Amino acid sequence: MNTSALGGACTVVVGCQWGDEGKGKVVDVLASDVDLIARYQGGANAGHTVHVGDQHIVLHQVPSGILHRDKRCLLGNGVVIDLAQFFDEVDHLAGRGVNPLGRIGVCTRAHVVFPYHMALDHAAEKAATAKIGTTGRGIGPAYESKTGRRGVRIADLLDTRRGEARVAQGIAWARDRLRQLGADPALAGTVGDAMAVAHRVPAVAADVGTEISAGLAAGKRVLLEGAQGTALDVDHGTYPFVTSSNTTAGAAAVGTGIGPTTIDSVVGVVKAYTTRVGNGPLPTAFDPPMDERVRQLGGEFGATTGRPRRCGWFDAVVVAYAARVNGLTGIALTKLDVLDTLPEIRIATGYRLGGRGGMPFPATASELERVEPVYETVPGWQTPTTEARRLRDLPRNARAYLDRLEELAGTPIAMISVGTRRSQVIREP
Ligand code: GDP
Ligand code: IMO
Ligand code: MG
Repeated sequence: MNTSALGGACTVVVGCQWGDEGKGKVVDVLASDVDLIARYQGGANAGHTVHVGDQHIVLHQVPSGILHRDKRCLLGNGVVIDLAQFFDEVDHLAGRGVNPLGRIGVCTRAHVVFPYHMALDHAAEKAATAKIGTTGRGIGPAYESKTGRRGVRIADLLDTRRGEARVAQGIAWARDRLRQLGADPALAGTVGDAMAVAHRVPAVAADVGTEISAGLAAGKRVLLEGAQGTALDVDHGTYPFVTSSNTTAGAAAVGTGIGPTTIDSVVGVVKAYTTRVGNGPLPTAFDPPMDERVRQLGGEFGATTGRPRRCGWFDAVVVAYAARVNGLTGIALTKLDVLDTLPEIRIATGYRLGGRGGMPFPATASELERVEPVYETVPGWQTPTTEARRLRDLPRNARAYLDRLEELAGTPIAMISVGTRRSQVIREP
């Protein structure tokens, strides 16, 4: 364990598996030490859970630092924002006594997800033979609009006429596309629907890159919060069973408008086992009874869609790959407590394919579908870890498990999470 792996003024927090690693919990813990928290990609497909006291909140677009009442929370240019859901989230938080207005900013360069993107997401999934199993939040179509240079940005909505004109073009394009997909073009909705909450945009519009840079220059500390995970990255993940953005740490600079040399440390959030929601290969998947057992122990149901997550053993090939792709300086290991009752635990240390061992994480989903994990079995600890607050409080077998994961990932563990609450964390030897 090396707690200094989180050092410096600007830290990225990035998922290292298939999402849902516990990024919300880790960001909430680390947020006490910073001034600004910014999301850099993804949108309402994310579901980041934060538990504080008796409050349990799932954040989809608002950064996970929001429950600290003195922190500024930003959505960078790389995020795609569903404004209706965003303001619902803001109002819901206000209703629970956490008022985000005044300390939340949305980048003027960020693209907007409209109801027609959601309609296109549903229609594309319905028409597809190999379905991705998306969250249905319009994420893929919104990023397609952005790279297709048809997108509408927050800045466009600051001028109602320009905003309406761009939205009308987007709707016309979506109607054609819906027809091609065999869906009803009326599902694209109207300009009025799309612009329903546009009048609230001026209250939150911000220049996120300038704000973060000025904050850092003034001695403030910053956390850049990733969504999804490395294996869902559009370039580095299990393509095509991925999300439509770069989720990895390099995207944190691009998606907030700061230079890459500004980033001091990269914390990879890693679950003590593996889960995946949506379609695509999962080499270390459990057999059905064990899958059900761990799903219940870990509460592995999607925070956004409620879908059951598939569960499997720790896959060190994925995590070592994530350590490289993200340039990790440290790992935040989560959900160790979920393994507390298991008599034996397996770790996939490598892959074999066609009789050949030592396979790296493959470039194609079809190869990943065919790899056979090589397992090592270690004894469980069968003792509760939820009250441990220092590494030395953990049972010996739990420490040995962590040492092995650290060795396989080639990255020091900087913090360990042993429960859902903010206080259930180990940050000292
Ligand atoms: P995220 O998308 O990476 O923020 O993760 P999610 O919130 O979707 O899923 C993680 C789930 O695990 C949430 O229900 C968290 O409350 C929960 N969680 C986070 N850390 C721990 C932990 O150390 N132990 C347990 N038992 N649950 C945790
Ligand atoms: P957080 O931030 C887990 C998955 C979907 C699907 C694929 C593409 O909570 O970790 P999309 O709607 O993005 O086009 O879906 O990606 N997916 C996630 N899986 N956690 C997430 O976010 C996810 N966001 C998207 O299930 O397989
Ligand atoms: Mg999640």
